[in-house]
Amino acid sequence: MTSLPTYEEQRAAARRRLPHMLFEYIDSGAFDERTMDLNRADLDRLRLKQRVMRDMSDLDLSVDIAGTPSSIPVALGPVGFAGMYARRGEVQAARAAAAEGVPFCLSAVSVCDYEEVRRDSGVTPWFQLYIIRDRAYMGDLIDRVVGAGAETLVLTVDMPLPGIRHRDTRSGLYDTGLGGFSRQAWQGICRPAWLWDVFVRGRPHGFGNFAAAIAGKKGLGDYWRWIRENFDCSTDWDDLSWVRSRWPGRILIKGVLCPEDGVAALDAGADGIIVSNHGGRQLDSVRSTIDVLPGVVAAVAGRGPVLVDGGLRSGLDILKALAAGANGCLLGRAWAFALAAGGESGVVAMLQALKAELRVAMTLTGCTALRDADRSLLDTGSPPLSNLYGSGAGRGSL
Ligand SMILES: Cc1cc2nc3c(=O)[nH]c(=O)nc-3n(C[C@H](O)[C@H](O)[C@H](O)COP(=O)(O)O)c2cc1C
Repeated sequence: MTSLPTYEEQRAAARRRLPHMLFEYIDSGAFDERTMDLNRADLDRLRLKQRVMRDMSDLDLSVDIAGTPSSIPVALGPVGFAGMYARRGEVQAARAAAAEGVPFCLSAVSVCDYEEVRRDSGVTPWFQLYIIRDRAYMGDLIDRVVGAGAETLVLTVDMPLPGIRHRDTRSGLYDTGLGGFSRQAWQGICRPAWLWDVFVRGRPHGFGNFAAAIAGKKGLGDYWRWIRENFDCSTDWDDLSWVRSRWPGRILIKGVLCPEDGVAALDAGADGIIVSNHGGRQLDSVRSTIDVLPGVVAAVAGRGPVLVDGGLRSGLDILKALAAGANGCLLGRAWAFALAAGGESGVVAMLQALKAELRVAMTLTGCTALRDADRSLLDTGSPPLSNLYGSGAGRGSL
């Protein structure tokens, strides 16, 4: 049997390969990182319920994730700057997703733009966007991406301003001037394999989808500055109507963390929602996504798909998320580290590991089809779990 990579192994390999500030950028959360840790801790507290002596010879892992057929209930979620983790990283990740039959979502803040990813991977990615201050540019970008064939828009709404991430300021990520440049250069020199493969051979490191807006500038620092200047705290649900009027396809609202906002998103014209706290990178001390998920699912009451992300690292985590009511899952750090560790084949290996883990978990919980997963897969009898979900089976029956 070939050995399957674990999350921790790929994270460690990424740490060895990436300049310190890039590893920290992926690995870190906001403030004291309590919510980031809680995403994991609450998943770990959930217990699966083992069932035996059922005919499990025919398993169906496939689902439809918000209108996109997928081999497993997983999509590669939006992760910014992937082109700095591996050479033309967004293209490599999209190829891996295509090879394993799962959707890929391109972050707005990518190194490779939408057209390049589509052309060089052969897939039509989902596209993620923030509501940016420059609405004229945003409108043009939407038209451009729709023109290139995009069907699913992930509109991220939990970033009206950037979270406070201490590890990024400590690592020198945002440093400018000669001091900042020499610090960043030194971190690159300490990682010669990355320096040659990504920094030299992976050029141009452009501003991706925002290249026209940031014309005339060159450095990553200029990119950060433009992004920070374009966050917009004035957005409300009326802005979704405006986006809706320009985007003919599906719109998923990413960043919902309470039942009221889930309902509001659908009332405002979204097709589905993504329960997310941005991997604990925005507001710290909010609840974990697996904790709030059942309440959101109950409130939404089947009006649209409910996806979830945050701390998902293994096939067992995916099964737990489905059992708690999700219609599909997004991965963040798991694929970013896999990409940094091994490029396209690293992401393929990670997805294959998820599939193998899912098979074991399904077989020993008596789940023959993932689309039918429900609360009965969870053991609600153990003391720690009863605090998180109480007892009872079935989707959304809190
Ligand atoms: C390095 C990094 C960059 C990210 N960039 C984006 C982004 O550009 N757009 C977005 O909507 N979410 C972004 N996210 C959040 C992810 O889409 C996702 O919500 C989060 O990573 C899920 O948690 P997990 O990493 O624990 O799986 C980013 C996350 C990380 C780790």
